Amino acid sequence: MTHAPGRGLPAGRLLFGGDYNPEQWGEDVWKEDVVLMRQAGVNAATVGVFSWALLEPEEGVYDFGWLDRVVQTLHDGGVGVVLATPTASPPPWFTRRHPDAMPVGPDGVRLVHGSRDTYAVSAPAYRSASRAIAQRLAERYGDHPALLAWHVHNEYGSLDFGEHAAAAFRRWLQRRYSTLEELNRAWYTAFWSQHYTSWEDVLPPRRTQYLANPAHALDFRRFSSDEMLDAYREQRDAIRATGSSAPVTTNFMLPSWNHLEQWSWAPELDVLSLDHYLDTVGPDGEAHAAYGADLVRSWSGGGPWLLMEQSTISSTVAGRRAHKEPDRVLRNSLSYVARGSQGSLFFQWRAPAAGSEAWHGGIVPHAGAGSRSFRGFERLGRVLESLAEVAAAPQDGPLVEADVAIVWHAEGWWATETPQLPSDDLDYSAAVRGAHRVLWQEGFAVDFVAPEADLSRYRLVLVPSLFPVTDAAVAGMRRFVEGGGHLAVWPFTGYADEHLHVVPGGYPGRLRDLLGVRVEELHPLDPAERVELTGPGEPDGSTGPERPLTGLTWSEHLSSEGAEVLARYAGLDEGVDEGAGEGAGEGVAGGPAITRHAVGRGAAHYVSTFLDGPSLRTWVAGLCEQAGARRVVEGCPPLVEAVRRRGAGVDHLFVLNHSRAAVRVQGPGVDLLTGAAAADGLVVPARGCAVLRTTERDGFTVTADPAGGEATPG
Ligand code: GLA
Repeated sequence: MTHAPGRGLPAGRLLFGGDYNPEQWGEDVWKEDVVLMRQAGVNAATVGVFSWALLEPEEGVYDFGWLDRVVQTLHDGGVGVVLATPTASPPPWFTRRHPDAMPVGPDGVRLVHGSRDTYAVSAPAYRSASRAIAQRLAERYGDHPALLAWHVHNEYGSLDFGEHAAAAFRRWLQRRYSTLEELNRAWYTAFWSQHYTSWEDVLPPRRTQYLANPAHALDFRRFSSDEMLDAYREQRDAIRATGSSAPVTTNFMLPSWNHLEQWSWAPELDVLSLDHYLDTVGPDGEAHAAYGADLVRSWSGGGPWLLMEQSTISSTVAGRRAHKEPDRVLRNSLSYVARGSQGSLFFQWRAPAAGSEAWHGGIVPHAGAGSRSFRGFERLGRVLESLAEVAAAPQDGPLVEADVAIVWHAEGWWATETPQLPSDDLDYSAAVRGAHRVLWQEGFAVDFVAPEADLSRYRLVLVPSLFPVTDAAVAGMRRFVEGGGHLAVWPFTGYADEHLHVVPGGYPGRLRDLLGVRVEELHPLDPAERVELTGPGEPDGSTGPERPLTGLTWSEHLSSEGAEVLARYAGLDEGVDEGAGEGAGEGVAGGPAITRHAVGRGAAHYVSTFLDGPSLRTWVAGLCEQAGARRVVEGCPPLVEAVRRRGAGVDHLFVLNHSRAAVRVQGPGVDLLTGAAAADGLVVPARGCAVLRTTERDGFTVTADPAGGEATPG
């Protein structure tokens, strides 16, 4: 927690609005837009994200006239501007003039314009054109009173495998390894005759005959993140050099892919921002919103950040045709705000008339402003206005206090995507998300931490798999446990060093001593297989938990080297046809599955399979109890979340009722949405919300409303 970006956004109000693409419409529509924005309470519009072709119609020829009118129209209407640099989408002339600056895929195919994100981030022509347009925009609008923030680029994340990337990759590798000898060692090039004798022979991991070198592939991901960070920095510096004092951000993207190592990006941004598209809008969508928000707040050092994009009522992201009801849009927005966002911005203001995102939806839908969904956004605008005081940050400490943290690192994700791992079903992102989900279900506030972070402020730290682990991370985890912390580790963690060299002597490699276990053999499971776990020491499960724990994907032949065995593998799954050969659990039957190793004043816990959702919840809830972690509010009914956001002098307790029944909130606070005091109890309707201003930490209860009341779905 040494760095807390979040500088420069207004502290006296929450932002509401979203991406605005006026270039798709005539100027008469702009006027209507501003009228409707005022009507809905919109106070922020993100402009210019994909406007390069209009802003620079020919190389070096700029046309800012239309943008001048847009910015002024918004300003006159009281709407602030988040001004983007348009570098995520170079125009067609750029391809013609600089064919070498087009990206090349791993298969060697060079792309051209026609969509977006067609640029080779290492190409000198692309970089200088990007700096130039960023500088021009900053010179023109850098001190405009409407300017709220700079939005550099859009969702960095396009990889390039071409010649410019190859040259930059070699320079990056030379800085990292100094000598070819070191690189050969790190990449284990003795394998399959890959030994390099000249830097010129080192290429990006392009398509090759068979399996790629995993260390090579991982380094390329590291390089690509650093290279994109350099590109971001150049634009940021070009903007700052003009004297513009508006905060600079770039929007991170979750969850379907990740090409950035956000811990090292965070200090380079004045304020972190996130584009977050839910992977489901079922009940799990609520947990997913919390996941994205907790991640970005954590990258932000616990400080304020901004939700730059979320979908409106309909979304087509990643092929998912997701629909959100207006009440869900409101609760999702408050979930992000409760977890530190300085507002709720959307993609996008007006649904496009055509183009490849015509069906993505907007605050103004195709149906127009006379619609149920627009009325929902008007309500959201009023709610956010009534919560303005929430935007003020506390004098010190994080916005959200958590006793539990989850270790998260992009390298864990990337390493788990390298070829030919012991199981094809290892999924880093799903493991992390699963850990966060059960903590959300149990009502705990959660931070994410980097593997080498200082863990001392937490009671429980979860490591839901992290294949490569550094010595420094292991030392930090040991210090944490010795000092009284509880560490819980999932399988496929610590098996390798940062170059993906397997740690010899048994798994889980670098964490073996701390966990007090040793694994000689891995027994990955087929997708249809599961293993059941029994209670302490008893293969018949007689002393086990009421519902036996179930493991998926993975099991191990584990022996204790000092750890207490808390659960064992029960053996063959009944559903498996014994005649078909060795069944799930047969190789590990009776062996330890869950252990606890007392070290210093704390304990290091290990689970050697991936527990299914209910089992994971049971196990993690038990860990929270042992570690003494405190829930935000004890005993909330299912699907009701309570989140406390600390503020300047007062805190705000958000109660978001995702369930279909009303709940009763009681405690020392006043609801900012209704003005009602909660001292005598206030009813939060099904799928409704309350935001209590309070100076107290304790004394709150959230219970089922005795008057009941089933909500109508939707
Ligand atoms: C991303 C982009 C937007 C838009 C949305 C929805 O988040 O930033 O430009 O494409 O997805 O598809």
